[in-house]
Amino acid sequence: MFTGNATQALKLVGESYPFATGDRFLLTFDNHNSVNGIREFDRARGADTIYLPVRPPEMRADEGVVRAQLERARSGGHDLFAFPAQSNFSGVQHPLAWIELAQERGWDVLLDAAAFVPTNRLDLSRHRPEFVALSFYKMFGYPTGVGALIARRDALARLHRPWFAGGTITVASVQADSYALADGEAAFEDGTLNYAVLPAVTHGLELLAEVGLDLVHERVRCLTGWLIGELLALRHTSGEPVVRIYGPATTERRGGTVTINFYDPRGQFLDHALIEAEANRRRISLRTGCFCNPGAGELALGLSKGEIDTCFRRSAGHAMTYEEFRRCIDGKSTGAVRVSFGLASNFADAAAFLDFARGFCDCPEAARLAAAAPAA
Ligand SMILES: Cc1ncc(COP(=O)(O)O)c(C=O)c1O
Repeated sequence: MFTGNATQALKLVGESYPFATGDRFLLTFDNHNSVNGIREFDRARGADTIYLPVRPPEMRADEGVVRAQLERARSGGHDLFAFPAQSNFSGVQHPLAWIELAQERGWDVLLDAAAFVPTNRLDLSRHRPEFVALSFYKMFGYPTGVGALIARRDALARLHRPWFAGGTITVASVQADSYALADGEAAFEDGTLNYAVLPAVTHGLELLAEVGLDLVHERVRCLTGWLIGELLALRHTSGEPVVRIYGPATTERRGGTVTINFYDPRGQFLDHALIEAEANRRRISLRTGCFCNPGAGELALGLSKGEIDTCFRRSAGHAMTYEEFRRCIDGKSTGAVRVSFGLASNFADAAAFLDFARGFCDCPEAARLAAAAPAA
């Protein structure tokens, strides 16, 4: 089914999944907010939300804990397990083997593939989750405003749409106060799709096929491995690292997303907002903050439930802004800096970022190299 983006695909599943009292919605801590938000649907229907933690510094889930939770599906119930094939916070690629493991124990699986599919092959003949969500602009840049929900037909038939709309019904009546939903995917495409740009999706997929997704994958792997190695080798003269990474330090079972914070020679973190401002000055566009992935951020940065509860309590009565949240958390970073490689990345991009990072090192040689680097 075509949707506006991955978020809409995820919402279609969340709002239509037949959660009932006692059912479970199981999800990893490192889900994007567009998956986290499904907990509001499951709670409204009396189901339980259960989070599986990921552990710093690698930011992976403990396999034993995953298996133990998966044993807890209710027979005859509707239990949904959601995880990102690749975390948009840490780059971790969770095992796709979890899909079958969960299904064998009675779970439906919602795979958030938004960050995975741009640079990795997802073989749906081998791994067969009930639901997969993605956004096409992440794969080839254009067009925005088109995503997809890929669902198994049997799983789709178990969803209950909470409303009907133009395009999703065969017949609806005002006087009879009734409607009949269309069959299959037609019942899930609300209103008029952005059909004028759909041919661009075809071209984008052709482009990826022409370049070769395996080649893109390998190039991204090489750039990622090189940058991580170089960043981790940067040291102040005090011996303190210039950068700390949240996620795997090798290219094994990870994608091209590198999330870090910068530190001064005394080991004190440098605010990510300052890093972003400095990057902008150098004409480098960086993503900073928590990347719509609060769970991974909280665990990576060591923010406790108590600290965060306090911030929400203090802001009771009004919607807390991110700036207020930043001020409320004392002495710890509330976010990080993220670099992601994809189809369009080349070695010059990686080298430009390394030069930028060297500028934060107090060692004279690094500072000299950074000063000599051309602007990006
Ligand atoms: C893993 C993951 N899931 C979901 C989304 C949401 O995608 P969109 O904003 O295109 O709906 C993103 C976007 O960054 C993402 O990285």
